[in-house]
Amino acid sequence: MNEDDYADPLDDAPLATDDSGMPRELPPFGAERTAAHCEMLANRLRKNLRHVRKWAKRAQVTCYRVYDRDIPEVPLSVDWYDGRVCVAARLRPEERYAPDFEAWSEALRLTVAQTLEVAPSQVYARQRERQRGAAQYAPQAREAQRFEVVEGGRRLWVNLSDYLDTGLFLDHRPLRARVATEARGRRVLNLFCYTGAFTVHAVGGGATHTTSVDLSATYLQWARENLTLNGMGGPTHRLVREDVMRWLDDPAVLRERFDLVVADPPTFSNSKRMTDVFDVQRDHEALLWRLARVVPPGGVVYFSTNARRFRPGGPLAVSAPATHWTVTEISDATIPEDFRDRKIHRAWRLERRPGPSTPLG
Ligand SMILES: C[S@@+](CC[C@H](N)C(=O)[O-])C[C@H]1O[C@@H](n2cnc3c(N)ncnc32)[C@H](O)[C@@H]1O
Repeated sequence: MNEDDYADPLDDAPLATDDSGMPRELPPFGAERTAAHCEMLANRLRKNLRHVRKWAKRAQVTCYRVYDRDIPEVPLSVDWYDGRVCVAARLRPEERYAPDFEAWSEALRLTVAQTLEVAPSQVYARQRERQRGAAQYAPQAREAQRFEVVEGGRRLWVNLSDYLDTGLFLDHRPLRARVATEARGRRVLNLFCYTGAFTVHAVGGGATHTTSVDLSATYLQWARENLTLNGMGGPTHRLVREDVMRWLDDPAVLRERFDLVVADPPTFSNSKRMTDVFDVQRDHEALLWRLARVVPPGGVVYFSTNARRFRPGGPLAVSAPATHWTVTEISDATIPEDFRDRKIHRAWRLERRPGPSTPLG
């Protein structure tokens, strides 16, 4: 997966530099400001927890966001994964060069541990860069780092230390729940399936067949293990290692039909196994056109993207003439209540109209 997936726009904001081209040093956060930030964070966390914990128990969810940059001066997201915690800071590039940046973020990390009543070793600071030490772990050691969480009664493996992402994108919880409720008796296709969380929910919801496609052998193995963890699997639940665009052009695939499709592609990806890069902005129209060939009338595609600057084109454009699909944007309904960032993703429901697929649809 490309490292820019899910990147925050601030990550590629230009770095402020001084006359010599060096990153401009910011004034230190300072002990007093740091202490004030810690106190504000602790108070807000306590307030949020009271609400979110009650909700999570009812919803049978053990992983959720407990703080989402609620206070502008403390631009963190804090995700609770059943007793362990993932903290990510959203800072301007130059802020990471403030002389006491490390001290500031460590103080906040300890505040999170104390307030959530977990050992500091259980609070993982997420970095965009792969952690050097951790990246060298053998697969066996990685297995030791993984643990289970529960979402909507389904069990899923996550790993907070060894990969760029945890194995479960929390912002798609409502869409996974929706897929579960609509999957009964359906042939479900999960494109860019990652660790197969949508597939687990589809099978749990009664899908008769599932096909999960991803380029990464590591993530497909993870998806297989997620299915196994729920007592799911077997020949009716296929895992396919292929480039999605190429796979959708396979003549054998063109003879298949899928009633319910999830297509949640990365913003951009690049791999030796692909003949071309995938760029969601450039390629979403071609992807949806390919899907029109394998989705029967009445079939549904959920298309989603985390690309913040995404401009909906083709059938997703507001003024698009209706051809293959009846389209509704459903982003408001698919962003979970524990996320304050209402732009974390956008999602659309496309229902296949009767009629053959024609280019430009
Ligand atoms: C953004 S994640 C998908 C998240 C997933 N839908 C979920 O909600 O759990 C991107 C995934 O797409 C896969 N991927 C990227 N480019 C691909 C391609 N061209 N064909 C198939 N899989 C691809 C990556 O390996 C990664 O697992």
